[in-house]
Amino acid sequence: MTERGRLLDAAERMSRGELAALQLERLRATLRHVHDNVPFSRAAFEAAGVRPEDCRSLADLARFPFTTKADLRANHPFGMFAVDRSRVRRLHASSGTTGTPTVVGYTRRDLDTWADVVARSIRAAGGRPGDVVHIAYGYGLFTGGLGAHYGAERLGCTVVPASGGMTARQVRLILDLHPRVIMATPSYMLTLLDEFERQGVDPRGTSLRVGVFGAEPWTEEMRREIEERFGIDAVDIYGLSEVIGPGVAQECVETKDGPHIWEDHFYPEVVDPVTGEPLPDGAFGELVLTSLTKEAMPVVRYRTRDLTRLLPGTARVFRRMEKVTGRGDDMIILRGVNLFPSQIEEIVLRTPGVAPHFQLRLTHEGRLDRLTVRAEARPATTAEGRAAAAGEIAGRIRDSVGVSAAVEIVAPGTLERSSGKLRRVVDERGDGGARDQRGM
Ligand code: DLL
Repeated sequence: MTERGRLLDAAERMSRGELAALQLERLRATLRHVHDNVPFSRAAFEAAGVRPEDCRSLADLARFPFTTKADLRANHPFGMFAVDRSRVRRLHASSGTTGTPTVVGYTRRDLDTWADVVARSIRAAGGRPGDVVHIAYGYGLFTGGLGAHYGAERLGCTVVPASGGMTARQVRLILDLHPRVIMATPSYMLTLLDEFERQGVDPRGTSLRVGVFGAEPWTEEMRREIEERFGIDAVDIYGLSEVIGPGVAQECVETKDGPHIWEDHFYPEVVDPVTGEPLPDGAFGELVLTSLTKEAMPVVRYRTRDLTRLLPGTARVFRRMEKVTGRGDDMIILRGVNLFPSQIEEIVLRTPGVAPHFQLRLTHEGRLDRLTVRAEARPATTAEGRAAAAGEIAGRIRDSVGVSAAVEIVAPGTLERSSGKLRRVVDERGDGGARDQRGM
C-alpha cells in the first residue's frame, strides 16, 4: 500500500458505489430512528405524507421535510432528542444573545463518531500522530474547543487546550511547547499575529506548520495572508453544532480546494434558499445536511443557511463543498444590492497599506442605508498611503459590488480584535439586533 493509502481509513478508501450503498442504509435507519423516537419528526413526516420506508434511494430524501433552526428552538431544550436522556453524555449549545439557545446532545457513540471525524480532519489537514496540537478554539458550550480536543487526542496527538483569549500567554505556549498544528478561528489567528509582532517575535520562526481554521467565513485572500505571515499551510474546517460541531467537512492540505464533506456521516444537499427546491451538484445555494449516524439528536434535512455548492471529490472520494464565504443571514441588503462581508474582506486584503482588520458599519442616512468600511492602516503606511487606500477600496466596492460606501482608514490597533468568532458587521440601523449571534 502507498503511504497515502495507509493513512486513509476504511471509509476514505471506498468507491462511490460502496459509499452510496452505505449512505442509503444509514439514511433509512436514521429516518426510522427519528420517526420512532421524536414526536416532532413523526408529525412532520405525517404532514408531508411520507414514511421512513418510502426512502428507497438517496434521491427519495428530497420528499422528506426540512428541519430548521426555528424547529430546534420550538423544541428547546430536549424535544429533538431521539434517545432517553439517561443516554446523553454531553450537551453543547450555540448561544443566541437574542433568541433561545440551540441545545445539542451526544451519546457515547456520538462522541466517538465526532472524535473520529475530527481526527480524520486533522489528518487531512496534514497533522500526524505525535504532533503537538495547540487548540485556541473556545472551550465550553461552543463545540470548537472540545470538538477539536477529542479529535486531536483520537489521532494520537499531544493536545495543548489553550482555549480562546489570554493571547500573550498563548504566544508563550507556542514558543515553549513547539506545536506543529494550531486550530483557531482565522480572525483569532490574526489576533495572535499582532501579539507575536508586539512581543518582537518572528511569527515565521515558530514550530507551527499547519493551521486548521474555521467556525467563521474566511476568504482565499485571508488564507494567503495567514500562510505568508506565519509560514504555514492554512486549511479550512467546517461544521455546525446542530450537525455535530467541527469536523463535518475538511479541506485536504494537498489540494486546498474546499472542504471534503465526510459523507459517510453527513449527507449533503444544496437547495434553492427561497423555494427549497433541490439543486444539482455544482449549483450555488443553501447547504442542507442530514445525519447518517447520529444517535442522540439526528437532524433530517437541516437548513444550515450556509451558501455553497457541491463539487466532485479530488483528494478524497467524498464530495467537496465550495468554501463557505457567506450565510443567508449575513447578507447585507444595501439600497437593494446584496452584499456579503467576505466580498469586502477580499477587497480590503488586496489593498496595499491596509492591515487585514476591518469592520462594516451600517447606519441610516435619511431614508437610505449607508455602509461605512473601517479598515486599519499597516504601521508603516503614510497619510498619503491611507488616503490612496481609502480611494482604492471605495472604488473597488463601487466597481465589483455596485454600491457606494464610505471608507475610513483608521490607525493601527484601533479596531476590536477577535477572541473567537469575530463580529464583522455593526448594524446601527435599529433592526440589526434581530440577527442571531452565535458565540462561544
Ligand atoms: O462553528 C463549529 C466549528 C468549530 C466549526 C470550529 C469549525 C471550527 P456553530 O457555532 O454552531 O459551530 O456555528 C456554525 O459557523 O453554520 C457557518 O455559518 C459557520 N462556519 C463554521 N465553519 C465555517 C467555515 C461551529 N469553515 C456556523 N467557513 C456554520 C465558513 C463556517 N463558515
